Amino acid sequence: PSSGALAGRRVLVTSGPTHEPIDPVRVLANRSSGRQGHAIAAAAARAGAEVTLVSGPVAIPDPAGVTVIHVESARQMLSAVEAALPADVAVFAAAVADWRVATDAAHKMKKGAGGPPALTLVENPDILATVARRGEGRPTLVVGFAAETENVLDNARAKLARKGCDLIVANDVSHAGGVMGGVSNTVHLVTADGVDSWTTMSKEAVAEALVAHFAGRLGASQ
Ligand code: C5P
Repeated sequence: PSSGALAGRRVLVTSGPTHEPIDPVRVLANRSSGRQGHAIAAAAARAGAEVTLVSGPVAIPDPAGVTVIHVESARQMLSAVEAALPADVAVFAAAVADWRVATDAAHKMKKGAGGPPALTLVENPDILATVARRGEGRPTLVVGFAAETENVLDNARAKLARKGCDLIVANDVSHAGGVMGGVSNTVHLVTADGVDSWTTMSKEAVAEALVAHFAGRLGASQ
């Protein structure tokens, strides 16, 4: 049996970008590295949890001691998340594409006399909101992330309510140094009770501190 602050707990984490197909060779993507989500999965495993990590396409290795499900698109990520439930804690650190191409082409699109193709975008499912709004089988603790470039705390509070989650980990991604793809992170924990702003730390240290916070909240909820 495992020991540690999350022993006996099930933790689900999403991480990385999603890739939305345009045709068999092209995708819509974003610059998420997966570092923060992967670090949280690794830290939860070290704390004794049974961890499932649902990861979009990333260039970093699978964390040790974690079950990793590799997906590409937002719709695949949602299916993998639903298949991985139930969980005590669900952490949505992935940078899910807001939109996908309405109909991805079955064959590679060709340059031609018709000029460039027009891509029609449609909204992707909101994975965090879908899980947070579940009745039966909702995780005890549903955690979202907010990468904001302005009005960080106001936007995070609004997001907390809109998504129906218990905690938003907000970070300001506007400043130089680049959180997106970078190694450190300055986060604010936003809950219905208020805001807790943490000092700048490595993404690994943020992960360790978040896991300790989750363990404390789960302990308090029993
Ligand atoms: O609305 P916004 O994309 O800013 O919200 C960010 C939070 O929502 C992150 O926790 C992200 O993982 C989650 N999210 C999601 N599915 C989406 C969009 C965002 O799970 N389609």
